[in-house]
Amino acid sequence: MIVYGGDWNPEQWSEETWAEDVALMREAGVNRVSVGIFSWAFLEPEEGRFDFGLLDKVMDLLHANGVQACLATPTAAPPPWFGHTYPEALPVDADGRRLYHGSRQGFCPSSPIYKERALRIAEQVARRYRDHPALAMWHIHNEYGCHNARCHCDASAAAFRVWLRGRYGTLDALNDAWGTAFWSQRYSDWEQILPPRATPTFTNPGQQLDFRRFSSDALLDLFRAERDLLAGITPGVPATTNLMAGMHWEMDYWSFAPEVDPVATDHYLIGEDPHIHLAFSADFARSLSGGRPWLLMEHSTSGVNWQGYNRAKRPGEMLRNSVQHLARGADAIMFFQWRASRAGAEKWHSGMVPHTGTDTKIWREVTALGALLKDLAEVEGSTVTADAAVLLDYASVWAEDHPAQPTADHDPVEVIRQWYGALWKAGVTCDVAHPEGDLSAYKLLVVPALYLISDRGAANIERFAAAGGTVLVGPYSGIVDEHDRVRLGGYPGAFRDLLGVTVEEFFPLAAGESVTLAGGGAGTVWSELARATTAKVLDVHTSGEPAWTRNAWGDGTAHYLTTLPDGDLLGRVVAEVCADAGVGTTSHPGVELVRRAHPDGRSYLFAINHTEAGATVPATGVTLPGGLPVDGALTVPAGEVRVVREAPPA
Ligand code: GLA
Repeated sequence: MIVYGGDWNPEQWSEETWAEDVALMREAGVNRVSVGIFSWAFLEPEEGRFDFGLLDKVMDLLHANGVQACLATPTAAPPPWFGHTYPEALPVDADGRRLYHGSRQGFCPSSPIYKERALRIAEQVARRYRDHPALAMWHIHNEYGCHNARCHCDASAAAFRVWLRGRYGTLDALNDAWGTAFWSQRYSDWEQILPPRATPTFTNPGQQLDFRRFSSDALLDLFRAERDLLAGITPGVPATTNLMAGMHWEMDYWSFAPEVDPVATDHYLIGEDPHIHLAFSADFARSLSGGRPWLLMEHSTSGVNWQGYNRAKRPGEMLRNSVQHLARGADAIMFFQWRASRAGAEKWHSGMVPHTGTDTKIWREVTALGALLKDLAEVEGSTVTADAAVLLDYASVWAEDHPAQPTADHDPVEVIRQWYGALWKAGVTCDVAHPEGDLSAYKLLVVPALYLISDRGAANIERFAAAGGTVLVGPYSGIVDEHDRVRLGGYPGAFRDLLGVTVEEFFPLAAGESVTLAGGGAGTVWSELARATTAKVLDVHTSGEPAWTRNAWGDGTAHYLTTLPDGDLLGRVVAEVCADAGVGTTSHPGVELVRRAHPDGRSYLFAINHTEAGATVPATGVTLPGGLPVDGALTVPAGEVRVVREAPPA
């Protein structure tokens, strides 16, 4: 069964509406909903007084209608009494402003009383519903750190110091790692150390990086505490939390991933190429899941309410988005939210049941999607195999977030997206991998932006190339160690040997400035005074400087770009590195082709046409649903999707 549903927030509606809701869920083929996410104020209306009247009815109603509950612990939204009674547990920003209750995630991640109260309500919910037949899965909290990832209060300062003692052991080690010899920042007592609060000018880069690491760990600790509590009460019930893979950069999801089972993520369309953004998020979720199927816990049927301009989805787009996630390994397609709210901050966010009722484009598409997912049930459990991986590390993104850089225009997340986008356009299905992870399954590694890399990570990448892999590295990668200290002796320190290039000096390009390459295409944002030591220069700037190099390394190859390529150049480079790596490319512009397969060899080709013209792609098998034979060529009408159950290998 492919899981289908969304967040159901019945506390916003009357019981008559609930009855209509479950009838509509049946009509749409919804088989699971997330409930209780924002119910704390109903479940514990006053501190210590619990009331399960509402949730009891909701759980029973779901069960009676054959809909499973992904039951939430309501800890993402403490009620007003919490902030009112415990103002010291509200989050504090870097300027020392304490944030009031009246929104959500109004708590400091290091607050002992928040943790106590959160675990108490989670325990109450778990004990109440441990044997309820509707309970299928735990939905712990909601989007950890979405709004309160970093708190700068005194409780956070104390917890940060404990975390730092664990990491460094001695103050000398911390002073050395943070480079506190600079600007007279040397600490002589642990108590002097603060979170990076507002300061006259730049804070210490090591301090800010460690604070990001600590803040991510603080939220992970809260997750673990809830998960362990639930595991004690309902052993065997899977417990997850909804990550925001590729959307949100505050938590280190590489550290969350092994702790959640299954991996679940949320995605919302954003940017100029939203379907490429979506594909990246889906591939990232699959990679966090170690290749296993994952759950799309939220996306939207149409527009959201939190962007400056909220584009509504065109007819067919929601179905295309859903099938994209499915193609890239999701076994659940869920939405925020079931019924669009009438009031509250998200009343202009689309839902599965729109304000305007069921005689609508959205509702017709919701029922069509439910029917399609039922027809695709046999896809459940199949997996996606990728020959290429894009490397990504949060610590590197966080370190580069310090404002004192050679240029503010080198945005690692943007660069990663662009390079991933070039692979997407070449039809290459990619994973996302951590530089210290197991890279042995890949033929090609793409390193768009890894400013910070540990010695272990650098050695791992070298080993990958030595064993015959192909690596493509972007500029301003391999520059600092894990404490954000420059690797000396010629940039890019960690990759200098692997790339066979040494760089003397960076020459960031001003807005509007570019370098042209002799072989075609251009670079922006970045250039550098580079010299090939052992590498072969594949292309030069018009000034004669190396722009693109290739170095032999063991049985493999390492390419380097000294600038940020435009689309033409990046396309050229991707074609070349894929050829070097033996990774196949396709040329069906705007048509996404992804394969899922079962271990027994049954496989499914997903063809998603994002263009406004029909396309024909190679495929053999039978259409699913429909069972129509496909004999070498599959036509996918404009804006539509096709799934082919492929002929078993001869
Ligand atoms: C996130 C949250 C939801 C809702 C949506 C709106 O995904 O988890 O509660 O706020 O965003 O897009």
